[in-house]
Amino acid sequence: MSEGMLRGKVALVTGGSRGIGRAIALAFAEAGADVAICHLGDAERAATLVQAVTARGRHGFAAECDVADPAATRAFAAAAEAALGPCDILVNNAGINLRGPFEGVTEEVYDRVIDVHVKGMFFMAQAVYAGMVARGRGKIINLASQLALKGGPDITPYGTAKGAIIGFTRNLAWEAAPKGIQVNAIAPGPIETDLTRARGPEWKAMIERTILAGRLGRPEEIAATALLLAGPGGDYYVGATLSPNGGDVMH
Ligand code: NAI
Repeated sequence: MSEGMLRGKVALVTGGSRGIGRAIALAFAEAGADVAICHLGDAERAATLVQAVTARGRHGFAAECDVADPAATRAFAAAAEAALGPCDILVNNAGINLRGPFEGVTEEVYDRVIDVHVKGMFFMAQAVYAGMVARGRGKIINLASQLALKGGPDITPYGTAKGAIIGFTRNLAWEAAPKGIQVNAIAPGPIETDLTRARGPEWKAMIERTILAGRLGRPEEIAATALLLAGPGGDYYVGATLSPNGGDVMH
């Protein structure tokens, strides 16, 4: 159904080597886009992703880039655009979760989580924004989390960062919409990826017992929302936060 929806488009997906970012990169390639991804320390899976994009008849590009470093994000955007062409769609997806009780959060942990998510998205978006403005069109999709909406224990830096992402999305949307650029966020519920697998089988069983959907989500279910926002069907979403979350929080 999505075939051809993104034909001729170029998409940049941060953190596209695995999990949700990988599913988004593949869904975009299946919809006709050429796709560049960055990753951190995941070169093998990034190369596999590029092969999978190529197998779908599209061009792929991957590079290592710590999104917490604005100079590195600018270099990644420049290299990706040199390889594939001007960026039509940016998905700010790269993320980490460092858990622990509030009283034990160090400045180092706080800075890292905020820098990867908030600073990373901010400057990654800035790196492609001028080109989008010049062309009068573009889509920027930021990965928040349902935890920004409902909160949760032992994740204060992560929840703080994800709340800031929703704020960033709404504020940039005001500037970007009149220039033809739609900026939106996705706030997923618990999705089965490396990020959540690290929490172990007991946590998973607890989610399955308590969440209305009765299961964790699949990365492809978040990719479907990204595809909606990236395609023409997403043109009337401005500063929105869509939350596919299995009923974990109703928003
Ligand atoms: P994951 O751990 O499976 O994949 C993370 C990706 O980000 C990898 O490609 C990794 O190389 C990359 N990455 C990590 N730090 C990076 C950095 N500093 N610079 C560049 N790349 C970096 O994670 P997952 O679960 O796929 O999460 C993707 C996004 O979705 C994150 O922003 C996460 O916070 C968000 N999210 C995930 C949920 C879940 O339940 N899995 C729920 C809500 C939001």
